Amino acid sequence: MHKVIFDTDPGVDDAMALLFLHHHPQIDLLGITTVFGNATIETTTRNALYLKREWKIDAPVVRGAGETFLPNRVSHEPPKYIHGDDGLGNIGVPDDVGIHADPRLAHRFIIEAIKADPGEVTLVAVGRMTNLALALREAPEIAKLVKQVVIMGGAFEVNGNVTPAAEANIHGDPEAADVVFTADWPVVVVGLDVTMQTVMTNGQLADIRDAAGSSRARLLFDLSQFYIQFYQSRVPDGMVVHDSCACVYVVAPELFETRKGTIRVVCGGIADGQTIQKPDGRGFGPSEWDNLPSQTICTGIDAPAVLKLIHDAIVSVKED
Ligand code: BDR
Ligand code: CA
Repeated sequence: MHKVIFDTDPGVDDAMALLFLHHHPQIDLLGITTVFGNATIETTTRNALYLKREWKIDAPVVRGAGETFLPNRVSHEPPKYIHGDDGLGNIGVPDDVGIHADPRLAHRFIIEAIKADPGEVTLVAVGRMTNLALALREAPEIAKLVKQVVIMGGAFEVNGNVTPAAEANIHGDPEAADVVFTADWPVVVVGLDVTMQTVMTNGQLADIRDAAGSSRARLLFDLSQFYIQFYQSRVPDGMVVHDSCACVYVVAPELFETRKGTIRVVCGGIADGQTIQKPDGRGFGPSEWDNLPSQTICTGIDAPAVLKLIHDAIVSVKED
């Protein structure tokens, strides 16, 4: 069993990833921590609570950061044209969903959960890395106690998706991401190199809806339609399942090819948020990549197998 804290900014592809985690038999979801990104922190937290309510998820929703790790940094507007005004594809999420977030702060929840179960907790972070960086700053000892950190973010051998250099989750808080990558804990980075290859067609999403036959899967289908329209100009048909790829890594790492090396994030300038790895074993002159922990990036993916795994997990629970 994998004990997982899901750090997220729902977000359409975040929603699919959450349903995957909720339904996968080898995942024990300890908590859902929210961060700003696809929408404001108020909206991503409200959306997480809405999904918790609609999908009957036991894990608490814990509100996290609403601004960057460095408070005075230039901040970027939520991409409403991708995830909708409400962050969930304009399906009309009510302002008040009738249930409330856990009173703790997300980064404290993360610290407490890791300390309570040394060596057992996996962090899966699919939004900006702010909550993780805050947790490390407050309690650096958690680095030695966490099982692993799997993140969706970054772009190594491919372009970014916000700028030619940077991917959205990293671009939204580059300093936080640099803290996370350079800390002495095991990080696996599932970036655009592999997620852009992992496209679920609308037909496959409809198959999930029909095979599951549940209101959960219908909601997932409905909230994804706006996002699919956005991606029409970028992929032939369907949705890029960025965040689900990171969740699949937790249960099926064998579906990914990886490369080890230290990672730094460009902070500032025209390449703000760019992720660069120094592959282990490659010779360079002295650089800012030296004497740091080696982390893992994903360089290849068996996309059909990943999509099948997502399908199978979601349809495995049929009742509402
Ligand atoms: C990432 O940015 C967000 O829009 C998505 O939810 C995903 O986590 C992709 O770059
Ligand atoms: Ca996300």
